[in-house]
Amino acid sequence: MILSGLPVFCFLLLHIGGQAFEILPGDSLNHQEITEKAILNATVQACRALALAEGTNFNFPAQPFTAEGVVAACGASQSLKTFQQAITSVKLRNIRVDIRYALNPSFHFDQEMFVQGRKIITEGMIAVKASNKMENYEAARQKLGEIMHPLQDFYSHSNWVELGNTLPNSNLIRTDTSIGNIADKSKATCHSCNGDDCTNNILEDIIAGKILTSGYFGIAPLVSTKPSGKCSHGGALDQTSKIKPTGGINKDSFNSSHGHLHTQAANLATAATSQLLENIRLEAGNRPFLQMVGISKGSSRALCFVTDTSKSMSDDIAVVKTVTSSIINSQVGTENESSVYILVPFSDPGFGPLIRTSDATLFKDVVNDLTATGGGDIEEMSLSGLQLALASAPFNSEIFLFTDAPAKDKHLKNAVIALIERTQTVVNFMITDSVVTNRRKRSNNNQPQTRAISESDAQLYKDLAQASGGDPSTGIQEPRTDG
Ligand SMILES: *[C@@H]1O[C@H](CO)[C@@H](O)[C@H](O)[C@H]1NC(C)=O
Ligand SMILES: *[C@@H]1O[C@H](CO)[C@@H](O)[C@H](O)[C@H]1NC(C)=O
Ligand SMILES: *[C@@H]1O[C@H](CO)[C@@H](O)[C@H](O)[C@H]1NC(C)=O
Repeated sequence: MILSGLPVFCFLLLHIGGQAFEILPGDSLNHQEITEKAILNATVQACRALALAEGTNFNFPAQPFTAEGVVAACGASQSLKTFQQAITSVKLRNIRVDIRYALNPSFHFDQEMFVQGRKIITEGMIAVKASNKMENYEAARQKLGEIMHPLQDFYSHSNWVELGNTLPNSNLIRTDTSIGNIADKSKATCHSCNGDDCTNNILEDIIAGKILTSGYFGIAPLVSTKPSGKCSHGGALDQTSKIKPTGGINKDSFNSSHGHLHTQAANLATAATSQLLENIRLEAGNRPFLQMVGISKGSSRALCFVTDTSKSMSDDIAVVKTVTSSIINSQVGTENESSVYILVPFSDPGFGPLIRTSDATLFKDVVNDLTATGGGDIEEMSLSGLQLALASAPFNSEIFLFTDAPAKDKHLKNAVIALIERTQTVVNFMITDSVVTNRRKRSNNNQPQTRAISESDAQLYKDLAQASGGDPSTGIQEPRTDG
């Protein structure tokens, strides 16, 4: 009983391989390879568009694109695994169509089911877009895989390639246009051919009239009744191709009836899949599209910390470390996660060097190694440090500046404001409140003297914060370890 089911299952798998772009690897391009190529291509386009919008550089990955190359070009190498998982998810849903809807001609553009096939694609696109809006990206990926299958099959199962088309049929991803001049149900489209000599079995008037047709497909005992004169899919498993007109027209692999056109069909299927993805991207926006394909760039902005490391900060440097860590931690794993972290220490007379990494853990280690030394007099090079950070960070970044001192380099004020405005960067000043500092220092019974920022010195920082839309507030929360 149990064993008797096995041959049927095996037969079905064989049949699947013969009915569409193949799902097993081989020389010819299968649905998985077509899908992966298109996703890699569309992802590159998304990252490039995002870089353009944000004023950052973009370098194309080397051809042929790989998942590794694409995430690196996107500045999102940390997303490699989720990117690969997303691609796999789309591919699995794609090939599942050959199991779930094996004998439904609309899902394969067989039997001249052009209107029905397009309906599956365009209704699926609406569902994908709705899922993206709700940030339900897995649902979007699954529906995408499902509608990519018929879209890709169109190029293998119809005579689009034989009609001389070199571009995808973009009407298949639209609802408001004609798909083309579809053959009448009663119109003959093929003449019989056998085996090796099937390259010219489509009737001349069909080709000359640019009339769209596709092959019939059926397996025993479910052979559909092929109307007289219609083309068949072709191949050993297609029983309809043994009924006149014999032979077939599919381009699923190099060995197919029209295998000499396999490469053209597969390339058009790839381009069409890229177009479908582009349509989805333009609706979703670049960032949500990238999330759909598993790439979390967070934002491509940087999180920057410009920190006073002069001696007077020695009591505050621990707070700087705590606050820095908590700001980073609050963003890691969220949509707002920064792709780059920048640290610029400053004191007097020096500032820098700038430290830049995309590794949050490494960055926190670097911050934790900071020590407060140097700085001879009261004022420090805060604006120089800020200017360096502004010049290095991508647009739309966020900067936190920690200090307890007035700026020594006040002359940079206008240059800094201009940079803030040009880069749309938010600058938050975390100025150690002198009252808090004094109180704490007194309670510690050491060095009652401390620096205090005068109202006019504080105003400079407030002006800068205001120019950026950042937080001018002061007074970092002191940890309660010494009280
Ligand atoms: C395709 O044809 C080649 C020879 O042309 C043959 O070696 C190969 O086994 C065939 N593949 C399939 C899946 O039939
Ligand atoms: C890559 O995507 C672009 C934009 O959608 C498209 O024009 C191009 O044909 C695609 N390339 C391939 C190889 O599919
Ligand atoms: C991300 O940032 C936006 C804008 O600042 C904010 O509205 C949103 O709540 C943040 N999301 C998370 C998860 O923190």
